[in-house]
Amino acid sequence: MKIAVLGTGYVGLSTGVCLSEIGHHVICIDINEEKIQLLNQGRSPIYEPGLEELLVSNMSAGKLNFTTSHQKALAEAEIIIIAVGTPQGEDGAADLSYLEQAAKDISKYMKESTIVVIKSTVPVGTNDYIKKIIETHCGYRVKMVSNPEFLRQGSAIQDTMFADRIVIGSEDKAAAEKMKEMYRPLNVPVLLTSTKSAEMIKYASNAFLATKISYINEIANLCEAVGADVEDVAKGMGKDKRIGEAFLNAGIGYGGSCFPKDVKALLHTAGQNGVNFAMLKETIRVNDVQRELLVTKALKRFGSLQGKRIALLGLAFKPETDDMREAPSITLTSALTGLGAEVFAYDPVAIENARKIIGDRVKYTTSIDEAVSGADAIFIVTEWKDVKQVDLEVLAAKMKQLIIFDGRNCFDENKIKACSNIEYYPVGKPPIIIQ
Ligand SMILES: NC(=O)c1ccc[n+]([C@@H]2O[C@H](COP(=O)([O-])OP(=O)(O)OC[C@H]3O[C@@H](n4cnc5c(N)ncnc54)[C@H](O)[C@@H]3O)[C@@H](O)[C@H]2O)c1
Repeated sequence: MKIAVLGTGYVGLSTGVCLSEIGHHVICIDINEEKIQLLNQGRSPIYEPGLEELLVSNMSAGKLNFTTSHQKALAEAEIIIIAVGTPQGEDGAADLSYLEQAAKDISKYMKESTIVVIKSTVPVGTNDYIKKIIETHCGYRVKMVSNPEFLRQGSAIQDTMFADRIVIGSEDKAAAEKMKEMYRPLNVPVLLTSTKSAEMIKYASNAFLATKISYINEIANLCEAVGADVEDVAKGMGKDKRIGEAFLNAGIGYGGSCFPKDVKALLHTAGQNGVNFAMLKETIRVNDVQRELLVTKALKRFGSLQGKRIALLGLAFKPETDDMREAPSITLTSALTGLGAEVFAYDPVAIENARKIIGDRVKYTTSIDEAVSGADAIFIVTEWKDVKQVDLEVLAAKMKQLIIFDGRNCFDENKIKACSNIEYYPVGKPPIIIQ
């Protein structure tokens, strides 16, 4: 099939690359000329494991192209997939302005037979709203499909090629069948629903996962208070199939480009419809408090953080991505510098993006060793592999005293207990102090 994808961000690019990999002819469009220039050189503008290899091989096979021209890309497309951003607006609702513009852009050049698919995460009713915008501009009835995306950054290719399910929501049966056909090579279970249910499935899923994280974080705080170990507790809970093991890692809260904004957007939809979704308000509140957890613990340990040198390991909101949107490191660096601490940050791939958000308030380093040299304490913020595998004795030699506030429970208890001198403060577990 001939497919056009609008937006070459984490979702659009991963989708475009994977659809070309399974045999379709894909053209990706973005309004960002820099991104398209890079892509045309076979380089990915985002860090996503395995993406660039597939990008290059499918470009070489002539199945994948990139352009800034809507006209060029849409003339032949049988299916147009919209994957532009829907960031959080000022009132908490999803900002649909990119989507509205995309609708106007495509209405000029698409054909009457083309199916328009919204893959961006959008509030219930948005597919109908966008359909009207396109129809007003093009003058004929448009075939719309809601096809929300569930990939995770850091494993986007894997998640697309081996998805748990594909949700296709449409009132147009033929369009839904054609979408099913498009995905057939993936051999993934397909769920056909109404448009509104498909839109709701995405928000309900993300809000549930965010709530699961806030829940285990509250359990972690309680474990700390009573002397239990949240990792054992999570293991014991997760073995129950009704609960499941995923998303029970206690830590310093969720972040990223999806959970924070999607939870708020769902809350906004609830409010607009007279539903008091109090549980979601708590999910957000717990997460806000949890993000500051390491600072709270450090204050308790040091009394004051004025003049303290803190090595912050990890800036990205999670490992295997360079995405800094809503990363807990933003809250932490702001709190630390506000309290007079000096922050030396390390991240293997996210520094360029971090600089744009955090700016010069912190010093950026190119290695863990450099970040921890002379530090009073280490904050572990992102559980990168090189952070998890670090040699603690080597770190100890570079610091005044090895004090670690671990926001991601990166180390096995035995690794900590093998140290000759350490203060280790994990989340939801008793601290380990060896002197
Ligand atoms: N990032 C994720 O993990 C993830 C997962 C599931 C769903 N989603 C949803 O998918 C959507 C996209 O997210 P993302 O993270 O890929 O966004 P992103 O910000 O990384 O990328 C969006 C891209 O769209 C481009 N764009 C904007 N307007 C355009 C237009 N009119 N024509 C062509 N291109 C245009 C932008 O230049 C940008 O490159 C959002 O609704 C998001 O909530 C994201």
